[in-house]
Amino acid sequence: MGIIDHKSKKEEEKYSMISKPLRSILLQKGSYVLSSLFFITGFSIGLFLFLQLKALHMSTTTIQHQPLWSTLLFNHTRMMEIKQELQLQVLQHNMSDQELFTKVSSLSSSPSSSSSSSSWFGRRHNNDEKMVVKVAFMFLTGGRLPLAGLWEKFFEGHEGFYSIYVHTNPSFQDSYPETSVFYSRRIPSQAVYWGTSSMVDAEKRLLANALLDESNQRFVLLSDSCIPLFNFTTIYNYLTGTNLSFIGSFDDPRKSGRGRYNPKMYPQINVTHWRKGSQWFETTRELALHIIADTKYYKIFDQYCKTPCYMDEHYIPTLVHMLHSEMSSNRTLTWVDWSRAGPHPGRFIWPDVNDEFLNRIRFTEECVYYGHGDVGKIVTSKCFLFARKFTAETLEPLLRISPLILGFGSV
Ligand SMILES: *[C@@H]1O[C@H](CO)[C@@H](O)[C@H](O)[C@H]1NC(C)=O
Ligand SMILES: *[C@@H]1O[C@H](CO)[C@@H](O)[C@H](O)[C@H]1NC(C)=O
Ligand SMILES: *[C@@H]1O[C@H](CO)[C@@H](O)[C@H](O)[C@H]1NC(C)=O
Ligand SMILES: *[C@@H]1O[C@H](CO)[C@@H](O)[C@H](O)[C@H]1NC(C)=O
Ligand SMILES: *[C@@H]1O[C@H](CO)[C@@H](O)[C@H](O)[C@H]1NC(C)=O
Ligand SMILES: *[C@@H]1O[C@H](CO)[C@@H](O)[C@H](O)[C@H]1NC(C)=O
Repeated sequence: MGIIDHKSKKEEEKYSMISKPLRSILLQKGSYVLSSLFFITGFSIGLFLFLQLKALHMSTTTIQHQPLWSTLLFNHTRMMEIKQELQLQVLQHNMSDQELFTKVSSLSSSPSSSSSSSSWFGRRHNNDEKMVVKVAFMFLTGGRLPLAGLWEKFFEGHEGFYSIYVHTNPSFQDSYPETSVFYSRRIPSQAVYWGTSSMVDAEKRLLANALLDESNQRFVLLSDSCIPLFNFTTIYNYLTGTNLSFIGSFDDPRKSGRGRYNPKMYPQINVTHWRKGSQWFETTRELALHIIADTKYYKIFDQYCKTPCYMDEHYIPTLVHMLHSEMSSNRTLTWVDWSRAGPHPGRFIWPDVNDEFLNRIRFTEECVYYGHGDVGKIVTSKCFLFARKFTAETLEPLLRISPLILGFGSV
């Protein structure tokens, strides 16, 4: 009792001490000051709320399900920084391929159904991402990307809708400036030998690293000689507008097709299952998870698909044909020139780069596109979104022509 009394008395003293000057002001100036004070306080709160809401709306119109209280309590800039830190950590992990593939196999294909993170920030990270679907652009290269300058222009202004992953020779040292979209985007890489299973390993490593970010829903594999044929918006809409993957796949009865099948693969793989297709694929998250999860067919290919069988041209097309054929449109989105004879496709140099040539590959023969909902099945001449093989010397003419022909970069 005594203690409580003592306390309340002290508080009373404190109260009167604080309020004394205020009380005297109120007495002097009357209700005019009082109403002014109320007005100023109310106006400030209103203005604060308005600015917060406006800032939120401007920063990303897609995040609409965020509760109001969280935008008032938490610094949005700081949240974005935390997000980026999380992404950098992902790139710098030290998991072995096996550990990485196992971890990825436990992830879900849709970000809404489960969350692998247990921390509060982790959960928010995933909830935020649920609103924005990202496309993962995965570059498989030996060293530097000679056409990086063109890709920089392509990605400009579309931050938040893409992720970049780069697999290089481990001896190559990154040298992108901090302002580059390729800065610090390299994944833990291993040496790749052309025509061996190490090529497929690198593709799976890229897929698995990109799968760690649950907002990535589409995955494009690109080489250092690839260029985009359209602007970001067009490519993003094309990829996210369908449920199907784009994995080249056909039954080639010739020596360069079925001729590469090894009968020792029977009975798990019959020659009638054997498919061939471009290494440069584009896949949905769901199919990417299936590709990472496969060990059974990988082992058979690793053992029996040796030169002149090239695992990167047969493994994924055959696997998808056997197990998930309904998920693919069986065509690649990456144009390449096979018109010249030989084991390697045509390479392009600077005099090749002109509007007539680029438009010829941007709009080719007709192909079928299966869009979501009302769009349905449509026939389009936009069959390819990317093209190869463009040499380093094409960068300058491509940058010059891209605003007019490809639809990005400044005029
Ligand atoms: C929010 O965080 C950023 C970076 O940490 C900081 O620069 C900024 O001043 C903060 N803003 C507020 C209102 O606290
Ligand atoms: C990986 O890094 C973690 C710390 O980040 C460390 O505890 C672990 O021992 C490392 N594992 C390997 C195989 O280096
Ligand atoms: C992208 O290209 C399409 C078709 O050419 C065009 O309609 C659209 O305005 C372009 N978008 C941007 C952001 O430039
Ligand atoms: C395997 O291929 C042979 C032709 O080589 C065909 O007769 C047979 O039906 C195929 N078996 C299966 C299970 O597809
Ligand atoms: C792709 O090929 C498979 C057979 O491997 C077929 O079942 C499927 O319908 C084809 N998809 C499209 C979109 O044509
Ligand atoms: C695409 O997938 C979504 C979600 O899985 C499904 O609701 C929708 O029906 C599918 N659309 C088509 C055209 O298959």
